[in-house]
Amino acid sequence: MKKTFTTLLLFTFILLACSKEKPQAVKGNFTNPNGESELAVFMRTMHDETALAKTATLAGEKFDFTLDTTLLFTPNASEPEKVASAAYQAFGTAYLNALQAYQKAGTGDLADHYEQLVGACETCHQALCPGPLVRVKKLYL
Ligand code: HEC
Repeated sequence: MKKTFTTLLLFTFILLACSKEKPQAVKGNFTNPNGESELAVFMRTMHDETALAKTATLAGEKFDFTLDTTLLFTPNASEPEKVASAAYQAFGTAYLNALQAYQKAGTGDLADHYEQLVGACETCHQALCPGPLVRVKKLYL
């Protein structure tokens, strides 16, 4: 019984992190009481806001993002070394640029800019964190 629980717990950690490597490195990096990294919680907010933006964009309206984008670079992540990497910083900056372009876009090219925004999620996930890719791809119009 105890072994099953431990296995389950370990499996959850592996799923929460992006890759199957070094699940033990996950422990100790969390400050949230429910055991999730700040980055994971932020990513879910970002996902939910993007889903709302999809609905708005399809209706020809612009969605006003309220997320605190500084959290994209929080060191409180399941794999902090990933966030610290040059690749992550570059993909993160590209995402922020795409977000800015969406926010500045006129009604005519709103859909194009929305697609580029989701493209910026996909690029980083393809390179660094393939787990949530299925959910990310569902955000395309
Ligand atoms: C610069 C890289 C990068 C960008 C851009 C990015 N992500 Fe992530 N995402 C990550 C990393 C790394 C994690 C793992 C976070 C953790 O576990 O600490 C993650 C985790 C997630 C998760 C899983 C959260 C959970 O429940 O554990 C979802 C869903 C997600 N991202 C969706 C998105 C969406 C949608 C976008 C674009 C709006 C996006 N991501 C943009 C790197 C990125």
